[in-house]
Amino acid sequence: MSNCPYHTTTAGAPIADNQNSLTAGPRGPVLMQDWQLIEKLAHQNRERIPERVVHAKGWGAYGTFTVTHDITRYTRARIFEQVGKTTELIARFSTVAGELGAADAERDVRGFALKFYTEEGNWDVVGNNTPVFFIRDPLKFPDFIHTQKRHPRTNLRSPTAMWDFWSQSPESLHQVTILFSDRGLPTDVRHINGYGSHTYSFWNANGERFWVKFHFKTRQGHRYWTNAEAAQVVGATRESTQEDLYGAIESGDYPRWTLFVQVMPELDAEKTPYNPFDLTKVWPHKDYPLIEVGVLELNRNPENYFAEIEQVAMSPSNIVPGIGFSPDKMLQARIFSYADAHRYRLGTHYEALPVNAPKCPVHHYHKDGAMRFFANNPNPDAYYEPNSFAGPVANPEAKEPPLRIAGDADRYDHREGNDDYGQPRALWNLLTEDERSRLHANIAAAMQGVPDFIVERQLVHFDKVHPGYGAGVRNALKG
Ligand code: NDP
Ligand code: HEM
Repeated sequence: MSNCPYHTTTAGAPIADNQNSLTAGPRGPVLMQDWQLIEKLAHQNRERIPERVVHAKGWGAYGTFTVTHDITRYTRARIFEQVGKTTELIARFSTVAGELGAADAERDVRGFALKFYTEEGNWDVVGNNTPVFFIRDPLKFPDFIHTQKRHPRTNLRSPTAMWDFWSQSPESLHQVTILFSDRGLPTDVRHINGYGSHTYSFWNANGERFWVKFHFKTRQGHRYWTNAEAAQVVGATRESTQEDLYGAIESGDYPRWTLFVQVMPELDAEKTPYNPFDLTKVWPHKDYPLIEVGVLELNRNPENYFAEIEQVAMSPSNIVPGIGFSPDKMLQARIFSYADAHRYRLGTHYEALPVNAPKCPVHHYHKDGAMRFFANNPNPDAYYEPNSFAGPVANPEAKEPPLRIAGDADRYDHREGNDDYGQPRALWNLLTEDERSRLHANIAAAMQGVPDFIVERQLVHFDKVHPGYGAGVRNALKG
């Protein structure tokens, strides 16, 4: 065989002519036996898969994580076992509400999802550029997302739906304030922080548990666009973030983030004045200071966007020994939701796709189904467990210490006895006068066309955060 890459059918047969269909006579009709034509059309019909139900528009790259500080007293995770240790990873960033073809420069939360290929399996941190979220009970997630997507009749985004929902969900105030502040419209994803947002847990070699929050702080600084600047950018290019990230990496200007953790001893969770598992709250830095851990660098663009970025399957359920979950209700729901989405979006054996496949040996007993292309266990007689044929067995060393849980099963009112105003106030207080006036103006702009009774209901919440916040938005609404 020649080394020349001759064009073939998917079954490997050489193609003699890729310009002309097989026809009866020069004017046609086309013959049904033109298998080459049929294969091309059939493949084209299957070139799209369902877009992600949220976070459909995204950008990604490969990189490395290097440990710079020792945290082995908190976790036995192999990724952190030694200062200087480097682990490969893939990152996917995204907007939340827009579809696959949405413009990049839109005001929206940015997804910040990482898959670390560790020796004990893939560890995914599927976070955002915000340390908190709009809701604290997962039962409200589909409702919240409906308000962000298109109205069923108009097929337009609906500010009325958004403010109707937010004004009746005061737990959203913290995230709403971040969304309409400068950081809600970043110029690109090199200039944002990433947060694991949820409380996770660490457990060390002695079986001691700690609660932990992950913070990836940009080393490029923060950059944002005003609404007016973003409108100009979108007019010129819809792909501003893709161009920025791809271009920076191609030119060798590798973006970097410093990983910090906040660590809370297990029993402190019973003492903090706020629920440390509430996703609408941060842990104040003065109580739980940032501990430096390492540096994340993105340094390689994908070769095939679809295969590597569209088909990447990020899931908060992907944890490794030394890292665990927490009672956070939102996290618990996400542990279910992502792998379920992947089975639907990508197919049964999505974890075997090259971008998702762990870089460590994988031995499981899942059997057949769509895309079953990987080999049997080394011993093909060991296809159930327990077996007598040297099949893979469980490793008790990977056992996590037991998780303390207490309480009667009930539907507890998560709005009762919860301060939804204190932390948004701390944020508003930290903004400069200029930042506040842009925040107020951005909110007013987003409220255009919203019925007065909904606007009034929301203004009451801003007043409770700070009278200056409510007054600022009122003034901006008049202007
Ligand atoms: P600190 O003053 O110790 O921390 C303030 C944090 O706010 C820093 O992490 C900083 O991130 C971030 N920040 C600074 N300026 C802005 C801005 N213009 N928009 C958004 N974030 C900004 O105070 P606390 O820990 O007591 O937190 C006070 C408030 O800060 C919180 O209520 C929360 O809204 C916000 N915040 C807190 C975080 C936390 O984990 N404690 C994390 C992020 C925000 P950076 O270093 O990147 O500038
Ligand atoms: C994507 C569900 C909350 C960050 C997704 C997807 C689903 C989902 C189904 C699509 C997955 C896929 O097809 O690959 C949920 C549910 C939530 C929730 C049910 C709450 C109960 C959150 C929170 C964050 C977050 C709190 C951040 C802290 C992301 C990111 C992606 C995503 C970054 C895109 C991942 C990627 O790049 O592939 N979410 N989500 N989500 N979600 Fe969530």
